[in-house]
Amino acid sequence: MSIVFDWANLVSDRLAGRGIPAADVEGPLADRFRAAMEDVRAWRSEGRLGFLDLPDDDALPAEVRARVADWTADVDDVLIVGIGGSALGAVVLRDALGGVRWNASDIDRNRRPRVHVLDNPDPDTVRGLLRDLDPDRTAVNVVSKSGSTAETMALFLVVRAWLESEGVAGDVRRRLLFTTDPERGALRPMAEAEGIAALPIPPDVGGRFSVLSAVGLVPATLVGADPAELLRGAADMRDRSLGDDLARNPAGLFATLLHALDVDHGRAIHVLMPYADRLRSMALWFQQLWAESLGKDGRGPTPLPALGAVDQHAQVQLFMEGPHDKAVVFVSAPFDADVPVPFGSRDPAALAYLADRGLGELLDAERRATMEALRTRERPSASLELGGIDAYHLGALFMLLEVATVVGGALYGVDPLDQPGVEQGKIFTYGLMGRDGFDPPAFPPPDEHRRVGLGD
Ligand code: PA5
Repeated sequence: MSIVFDWANLVSDRLAGRGIPAADVEGPLADRFRAAMEDVRAWRSEGRLGFLDLPDDDALPAEVRARVADWTADVDDVLIVGIGGSALGAVVLRDALGGVRWNASDIDRNRRPRVHVLDNPDPDTVRGLLRDLDPDRTAVNVVSKSGSTAETMALFLVVRAWLESEGVAGDVRRRLLFTTDPERGALRPMAEAEGIAALPIPPDVGGRFSVLSAVGLVPATLVGADPAELLRGAADMRDRSLGDDLARNPAGLFATLLHALDVDHGRAIHVLMPYADRLRSMALWFQQLWAESLGKDGRGPTPLPALGAVDQHAQVQLFMEGPHDKAVVFVSAPFDADVPVPFGSRDPAALAYLADRGLGELLDAERRATMEALRTRERPSASLELGGIDAYHLGALFMLLEVATVVGGALYGVDPLDQPGVEQGKIFTYGLMGRDGFDPPAFPPPDEHRRVGLGD
């Protein structure tokens, strides 16, 4: 049971003077961090950091297990409908705990349902998915903190009509589960009026900080993981990550060092690069968390997802020789089992170095090699080393990154819990869709001289 944040390669003595001076970490950065923690504590006492208390809900794992067992009896497929913080964590949990072939492999699933996450209201995707599923044997989890998000509500209405389509037997309400605010939004009264099962997202837990609520516990349970373990890992990491001593605080170091690399050293692009397919979607979850929380008031880092070793054949060229504006955080964990590479006398001598080595061994060597290659080019990197890809470690990793994000908010001097920048687009969309009380935007007139292409 371990998660280690190794930050040695962010420091200037490893980078020919280009990284963070070692003396800064014990001096000015430790002071900066302590000041940031005062903001974090203030937010907590104002009741804005409810995600920190989610691991203490001892009753929730059992409630989720019971609910999932009842709601998915006799189904082959589960559709999770949500977007942003109400979808990305579900994908991480399915892929990491169930495996990236969960939906494709009867063996991996072992009679559990496939889990599909519908986030984008792309009609081609939705039409194709619903065509392939049996409405008689599909359960649907609608996830929305606000209970008002246009994409989620539109998808819900489409999916409910499909569940009710002609010839479908049984009570459709029994195959619906809402995960939403206990009081606000359109889903809660519908659940109460129609007797639809519902699980809560506590009012003081924001969308992108909700993965350790029922939002994430449901998908974790669907793929056979123990939701209590997710919370146990999160609790251990929380208890490790709220102290003022920077040197002993992994979330504090993650936030403080990446912030310093941005504002003091011009490295505003923060790459999260797992070296495991099962952790690939974690980089997308982090991208949303870091971007939507910290990008405001003209400030904020740009998160960039990558995947090892695939991006060694794509983005690593840029990381190695492009502008000195990035810091890379590698994520690694032991694989369940390695696959040996067979090699025989008919095979070319040039490939003999692979003989009897493992694919996992190769991938791990590539991670370590890439980290060292970056260091030799004075490119800072760090690594998050997980003791395993299981519910405990995922819970701990989610918590580490969430705490780091609120510390980051305090360091950047922004409110990490709001997202005012997305509101204007929503308001314009309502106007374009004809919602009462909203006007469409006054677009500038089209300029024919500034449109070019092929055909009309
Ligand atoms: O982090 C956030 O608050 C957002 O990304 C939300 O998760 C996203 O907009 C979906 O909102 P809701 O869960 O209210 O439908």
